[in-house]
Amino acid sequence: GEEAEEELSNESRQLHLSLPKERGWRTSHLYWFQNFWCQAKEIQAIISCQRHFQAQDSDIILATIPKSGTTWLKALAFAIVNRKRFGPKNHPLLTSNPHDLVPFLEYKVYANYNHIPDLSSSTRSCSPRLFGTHVPYASLPDSVKKSSNNNNDSGCRVVYLCRNPFDTFISVWHFLMRARPASLGPLSMEEAFDMYCRGVIGYGPYWDHMLGYWKESIERPHKVLFLMYEDMKEDTGFYVRKLAEFLGYPFSLEQEREGVAEEISRLCSFQSLKELEVNKTGKGAVLNLENESLFRKGEVGDWVNHLTPFMVEKLTKVMQQNLGDSALAF
Ligand code: A3P
Repeated sequence: GEEAEEELSNESRQLHLSLPKERGWRTSHLYWFQNFWCQAKEIQAIISCQRHFQAQDSDIILATIPKSGTTWLKALAFAIVNRKRFGPKNHPLLTSNPHDLVPFLEYKVYANYNHIPDLSSSTRSCSPRLFGTHVPYASLPDSVKKSSNNNNDSGCRVVYLCRNPFDTFISVWHFLMRARPASLGPLSMEEAFDMYCRGVIGYGPYWDHMLGYWKESIERPHKVLFLMYEDMKEDTGFYVRKLAEFLGYPFSLEQEREGVAEEISRLCSFQSLKELEVNKTGKGAVLNLENESLFRKGEVGDWVNHLTPFMVEKLTKVMQQNLGDSALAF
């Protein structure tokens, strides 16, 4: 079945009855909630997060649509802000998956509606707090979106990582087919692609997702940093510095001399994370799957091996139509 019934509150079950729904990728249905597609259990967690999460000025929110580089962004941000605490020998990233170091708001922190965590006391010792999320900008908790000081736009910061939609589709298809229970029957790549192009994908439509964060990053550049996976692959060191600066942890001259940014880039690279024991044999960092499923290829342009020219043309048009004159282009 989809989600165990007892994991949903009565309120959630009532709500689902009223929402438009579509066939899902790894669960029977996706629901149209707050202008994006998501699953029953996620809706409940998102509502709980919106009700209860109190952002602190030092908080850092890492936002992505699934399969656009979340694991990488979590590793980089964690390594940057904690670089004084951990050296390269005893680094937590060597023994823990990034998702176990930076929890998702909707899958970890607020996943259980019977238990609202008290974040105020437990996490004070490890400032800044880092969280991941997949929700669109508009659905972030109010305390995240607002600034503590409107003049210089300080307060909790948001980093968005965007990836080209062709590779993101290929990545999400491979990943969710591993997660899809046999009881739901097969979902072909053609069917999945059609759903994707209609925007029917978890947290999608993808164009709305990226546009929401993009617009905010232009209006409030101190609040929201918009990064591209492809750019980061090309010059990781540059973006590690940019990210560090944005988060308020710029590299000192001495750290530059020591090559700390390069060290962090190496530590968090696809190759080095993939080779770690925790990521080769560990399990459960995301969705109870093997951690190795988070490290498939880590390349730019793998879509050429999977998409037909017709599919490329179709998705190109869909993206163009929906991104309009936003300056985002793929
Ligand atoms: P592919 O399926 O194309 O290989 P997410 O972390 O959001 O789930 O995204 C997963 C994608 O990011 C996968 O893409 C995965 O291989 C890639 N990835 C994981 N770790 C990475 C890293 N350290 N650097 C670059 N890409 C990484």
